[in-house]
Amino acid sequence: MSGEVPDTPVAQVAARLLSNEPVGAYRHLVLDAAAVAAPARPGQFVAVAVGGDDTAHLLRRCFSIHRVDPAAGTVELVVADAGAGTHWLVGLRPGAAVDVVGPLGTPFPLPDEPTGCVLVGGGYGSAPLGWLAEQLRAAGSHVELVLGAATADRLFGVEAGRRTADAVSVTTDDGSAGTKGWVSDVLPEVIGRSSATTLYACGPMAMLRSVTDVAAAHRAVAHVAVEEAMACGIGICMTCVMPVVQDDGQTKMVRSCLEGPVFRGDAVRWEAFADGRCAVPADAVGAPVAAGGGGH
Ligand SMILES: Cc1cc2nc3c(=O)[nH]c(=O)nc-3n(C[C@H](O)[C@H](O)[C@H](O)COP(=O)(O)OP(=O)(O)OC[C@H]3O[C@@H](n4cnc5c(N)ncnc54)[C@H](O)[C@@H]3O)c2cc1C
Ligand code: FES
Repeated sequence: MSGEVPDTPVAQVAARLLSNEPVGAYRHLVLDAAAVAAPARPGQFVAVAVGGDDTAHLLRRCFSIHRVDPAAGTVELVVADAGAGTHWLVGLRPGAAVDVVGPLGTPFPLPDEPTGCVLVGGGYGSAPLGWLAEQLRAAGSHVELVLGAATADRLFGVEAGRRTADAVSVTTDDGSAGTKGWVSDVLPEVIGRSSATTLYACGPMAMLRSVTDVAAAHRAVAHVAVEEAMACGIGICMTCVMPVVQDDGQTKMVRSCLEGPVFRGDAVRWEAFADGRCAVPADAVGAPVAAGGGGH
């Protein structure tokens, strides 16, 4: 695996919005941002200023890069209208100026040799997987996609995936498209028939945990892109820290915006996450010591 953190030049760009089209429950945005597009790799993300010049929304919002076209200098995003900031963003018209910082974070590590790969996306978490699938197939890997969502309109990338990947499996929670159920319900069969050694996943934390478990049961390695809440996106505020086991066996609280968002699934301490929060495991480096724990 070529998983080293690239020395990626990060740019702040006054991008121009070239198009803003609906795609299922989401909006597909194309931005003219050549300095971000050129060095970007699948798994990386951008941090976008929202609200305009007079806004009270001081924090940027983070979005996976769906794909880039370095020749055209474009960066594409898939955005769900989730709250005040994304509502402003998806309401922009072509021609609007958008302040973008990127590419940020670590990309998905690519295998050194062609192998069987399964790419698993949940909701808008599927956004970076088509681009990744193209790169893996161009390097000779067998690529299968497993795309899931709560409902059919929240699936992303199914049609494009059928043109790009060797096979696409679809699940929805309500059965409105594909198999009724979760991606983890169909994953064992897909891994089995494709003899996959490597899984890539992006989506909700619970999904990433189950993908990691299924991968381990099949002696495969899962690389997961987490979407922990991020405030700065550039390593300063520590909002995004999460417990990850390091090469020396110690658990450290690491910044998912800088050391991630892509981690080996089996290194993440999944039990620390509950109810949308992340606790510091008692054995993590620097964890708070309980009162009366032996100090003076
Ligand atoms: C790496 C990454 C990739 C993502 N990719 C996508 C994607 O491809 N498509 C997509 O639609 N969404 C994506 N998201 C989720 C997206 O960033 C959120 O949906 C978006 O930030 C919501 O912003 P909002 O203003 O609409 O919602 P709000 O709920 O109003 O704001 C949420 C954001 O505000 C900030 N914030 C609010 N309160 C606090 C607080 N107390 N402390 C710190 N920060 C606070 C945070 O930046 C938080 O992300 C991604 C998130 C991450 C981290
Ligand atoms: S979001 Fe600020 S350090 Fe990661």
